[in-house]
Amino acid sequence: MSQSPQTQTPDLFTPLQLGAIQLPNRIIMAPLTRSRAGEGNAPTPLNAEYYAQRASAGLIITEATQVCDTAQGYPNTPGIHTDAQTVGWRAVAEAVHAAGGRIVTQLWHTGRISHPLFQPNGALPMAPSAIAAQGQLYTGQGMEPFPTPRALETAEIPALVRHFADAAKRAVFDAGLDGVEIHGANGYLIDQFLRDGANHRTDQYGGNVENRARFLLEILEATTHAIGADRVGLRLSPTGGFNDMSDSDPLGHFTTIAKTLNSFNLAYLHVIEGLPGNAMAPAPGLPHVAAALRAVYKGAIILNGGYSHATADAALAKGEADAISFGEQFLANPDLPTRFARKAALNEPDRASYYGGGAKGYTDYPALESVAA
Ligand SMILES: Cc1cc2nc3c(=O)[nH]c(=O)nc-3n(C[C@H](O)[C@H](O)[C@H](O)COP(=O)(O)O)c2cc1C
Repeated sequence: MSQSPQTQTPDLFTPLQLGAIQLPNRIIMAPLTRSRAGEGNAPTPLNAEYYAQRASAGLIITEATQVCDTAQGYPNTPGIHTDAQTVGWRAVAEAVHAAGGRIVTQLWHTGRISHPLFQPNGALPMAPSAIAAQGQLYTGQGMEPFPTPRALETAEIPALVRHFADAAKRAVFDAGLDGVEIHGANGYLIDQFLRDGANHRTDQYGGNVENRARFLLEILEATTHAIGADRVGLRLSPTGGFNDMSDSDPLGHFTTIAKTLNSFNLAYLHVIEGLPGNAMAPAPGLPHVAAALRAVYKGAIILNGGYSHATADAALAKGEADAISFGEQFLANPDLPTRFARKAALNEPDRASYYGGGAKGYTDYPALESVAA
């Protein structure tokens, strides 16, 4: 199955080097929030079992993980800013490595997608500008409207940048994870800075795209300095509307950003642009930007959003991406690469058990061997 990347058309089973990480296949597990962290938002043995079950992925990208105590926006999502959380992640990393896998953790700050219930001392969530997302969020005590966040003071921003770098150090040096993915997608804090629908700042972090990208670029500068660029990936969702996001020129703005990213030599750029019919597909009237990013960005690109085995292989063969990530299919199929290789049927995901709870809908999806047994 495996081929030499230089001479053969790549497919999902062609090995790939992403920065410092050597992948045996190009079937990436997309980050998936599951809201099953334990006491103090620390990963548990159940979380370790879940990730170890999925160790045959070319690379596991973990669920989004808080970089500091203001970064949370949902119940029971893990952090990586306390010692207990770091110990929990160490057990996750050990379990995945013992099962032969590779794992990076996705670092996030949810910004305005939060609620005083998740903030220290019940404070308002923070954001680039005091603009509420339209809609409601799940707090663990029912649905609540998104609150109007407070706009960050310019002087507060360096500490937030340091939180990302400190979390990256904890992830790699203390927990033994293989790297980090900076969550710049889906309407969370970094994306709130990037897109002009959420960023109305008048300081050096707002205005033109260069200014709106400054927060992201400072985070990349700090994290790559902390752990090495070859262990840092970045996720972007240029046209995503999730969390009430919008931008006046996604194609122009994100092409500019992608060109700037070239100087970082990141392990990879992970772009969400759903295929037609996928929840992450650009809304009608919005441009498709993935091909434009591919044209200007020199490093490895992972594409995501509604791919099947066949459409993923086609995208790799056409050179549209270097790897493809799978969300819901990996959630429901711990042995997704084996199932793809054997062209076996896939388990259907159970949406009712996506967020919160225990083993049900989490570690009890059968692998083929246990189906056969
Ligand atoms: C239950 C669930 C949780 C998710 N959590 C995250 C997350 O923590 N971070 C993130 O960047 N994307 C998250 N996503 C988006 C997925 O990574 C992915 O972009 C999406 O599912 C589309 O890919 P797919 O069609 O292969 O599932 C989540 C999606 C689902 C269904």
